[in-house]
Amino acid sequence: MTSNAASAQLLAIARDIAVRASEFALEARRAGVSVAATKSTPTDIVTAVDRDTEAFIRSLILEARPDDGIVGEEGAARVGTTGLDWVVDPIDGTVNFLYGIPSWSVSIAVAEQAGPRRIEGSTLAGVVVNPVTGELFEASLGGGARSSGRPLAVNTGVPLGQALVATGFGYASEVRREQAEVLLGVLPEVRDIRRMGSAALDLASLAGGRVDALYERGLNAWDHAAGGLIAREAGARVGGVRGGREDVELLVATAPDLYDAFAALLRASGVDA
Ligand code: IPD
Repeated sequence: MTSNAASAQLLAIARDIAVRASEFALEARRAGVSVAATKSTPTDIVTAVDRDTEAFIRSLILEARPDDGIVGEEGAARVGTTGLDWVVDPIDGTVNFLYGIPSWSVSIAVAEQAGPRRIEGSTLAGVVVNPVTGELFEASLGGGARSSGRPLAVNTGVPLGQALVATGFGYASEVRREQAEVLLGVLPEVRDIRRMGSAALDLASLAGGRVDALYERGLNAWDHAAGGLIAREAGARVGGVRGGREDVELLVATAPDLYDAFAALLRASGVDA
C-alpha cells in the first residue's frame, strides 16, 4: 500500500509531465492537425499529435520512473516491476481536438495494476489539463482534489430531476444505437444532458460542480483513470451500475446522495440490458 506522501510525490511528477505535454500538444495543434489513421471504426480517429504527445509523455515517465509500467491509449504499453502503472491519454477528446473545439485534455494517472479495460488497485495520483483554457485539475489519494490551488467539491443535495448529466458515446454504430435508447429513458427524467467530448474533462467537471452526474459505457482506463480519482477526491461516488468497480462496461459517477437514484434510472433505461 502506497502512503499519502508517496501519492503526493507521484502527483508532482504527473503534474510536471502533464503540463509539459499540454504545451507540446497545443504547439502542435497550432502548427496544424489532420487524421493520421482510424482505429476501431472510421469515426475513431488518431492524429499524429496524439501519437507524438504520447511518445513525449512516455519518454518523460521513463526518465522519472524507469521501473513503472505504462498503459497508453495509442499503444505505449510497458510492463513495469513496481506494481505501479502510468495510465495515459495524450489527447482525450481527439474529435474536439481535430475540429478546434476547446474541450480536449491531457490525462495522466498513476495506479496500482492498471490494464486498458480496468484498474485493479487504487489510483494514487491523477492530472487532467485542458491545454486551451489552461485549466488543470489534480488529485492524490487521500490528498483531496484541486484546480489552480482551489479545492474541488461535487454538488450535493441535487434531486434527480434537477441533475445536469454528462455522458458520451462510443465509436461503433451498433453501440451508439443502444446508447441512444438508454438516453431516451434518461433525458426526460433529468435537468438536461451534456455531451462535451472528453470523458476526462467530464469527470473533472463533476468534481468542480459543473455537472451533477455522469455515465458512459465503453470507457477505457485511460479515459477515466485521472478524472475518476479527481472526482472521488472531490467527494463523488464512482462505480458500476450495480455497485462494484467502474470498468469498460460502465462508469457511473455522482455525489453519494444522488448515486442510488441515478443508478436506478440507468437500470430502468436499460443501461445494462
Ligand atoms: C473519447 C472521449 C469521449 C468519450 C469516448 C472516448 P478519445 O476519448 O473521452 O468523450 O465519449 O468514449 O473514447 O477517443 O477522444 O481519446
